[in-house]
Amino acid sequence: MSADVQDPPPAAEAVVLVGGQGVRLRPLTLSAPKPMLPTAGVPFLSHLLSRIRAAGIEHVVLGTSYKAEVFAEHFGDGSELGLQLEYVVEQEPLDTAGAIRNVADRLSADDVLVFNGDILSGVDLNDLLATHRGTAADVTLHLVKVADPRWFGCVPTDADGRVTAFLEKTENPPVDQINAGCYVFRRDVINTIPAGRPVSVERETFPQLLASGARVQGYVDNSYWLDMGTPAAFVRGSADLVLGTAPSNALPGEPGEALVLAGAWVAADAEVRGGSTVGADCVVEAGASVVESVLFDGVRVARGAVVERCVIGAGAIIGEGAVLRDAVIGDGARIGADCELLHGVRVWPGVELPPYSVRFSAD
Ligand code: GTP
Repeated sequence: MSADVQDPPPAAEAVVLVGGQGVRLRPLTLSAPKPMLPTAGVPFLSHLLSRIRAAGIEHVVLGTSYKAEVFAEHFGDGSELGLQLEYVVEQEPLDTAGAIRNVADRLSADDVLVFNGDILSGVDLNDLLATHRGTAADVTLHLVKVADPRWFGCVPTDADGRVTAFLEKTENPPVDQINAGCYVFRRDVINTIPAGRPVSVERETFPQLLASGARVQGYVDNSYWLDMGTPAAFVRGSADLVLGTAPSNALPGEPGEALVLAGAWVAADAEVRGGSTVGADCVVEAGASVVESVLFDGVRVARGAVVERCVIGAGAIIGEGAVLRDAVIGDGARIGADCELLHGVRVWPGVELPPYSVRFSAD
């Protein structure tokens, strides 16, 4: 190609925000950032990237901060996924809008899809883009309807779908629509975000855009949606991916009751179901039961142990007859025989609980 002929800018590009500390998912996020946690056999981010690629987008910029190096080590230049991946590291976390502004010089398309890196969603990305273009919006937000909007800030829209306000959490929310953590920005709007300091999309950028008369469009849909930010949601999302309820092109294998990865061994009379993932080189011994759970690599679940709706970190050992429900166990922890851990208990990496030592519920 001659020097004066340039490729046209791409139709759309994507930015994925992956710099958060994932505090609610500790202790799992002490060793890996939330988007890199093994989820249905691959890092969570693989599922999102597979959907971005399936929508025809190739250039993806990751806005990183916490444990920034881990992403490039795993995904490299993205070519194995058919993507061109770029990484931008924040020295100090810049919050969501600050992170978007920080990657502005890597973007050339008119329309930029922005994703929170911890959302599992079936939204039709091309339809979202078509709505953004069809309404000539400055920013378009994916909105989802939730059963109990009291837990979220809500986002009302008018008859044309224009966003009318960003409301804080309240006991009586006027609508059941919430921000789903996926946006389309016109690229020149990104340049209006202040550079070099933390800025929040929800608290600062979106309310200011509304106040300035910008067109902020809502795109409401009812497809699958889950924010994977808490242990309970992480377990649910991983199980939904394995069961095929949540959409992904990155699932290693066919959807089913369980995903058992290479080198894992499950005793013939052990039970593994409910969308559980059994990581590489795990052992699930006779009579054990693993239901709706995620076992990272190298976990041992001893005879007769029960593991329900749990995340078990790499190399952890669950002793004979132990009962774990809704628990999070850090990497390398050892849970002694017959311990009982219920209702949101979290055990830090490497901790050893002697046999018969604990009957503990976080409630
Ligand atoms: P918690 O600490 O458990 O609230 O999780 P989090 O740190 O991921 O925060 P939150 O769920 O509110 O973040 C939403 C999305 O924005 C996630 O994908 C984060 O990785 C990302 N994010 C949050 N803060 C920053 C930041 O300062 N920089 C970048 N690049 N991304 C961020």
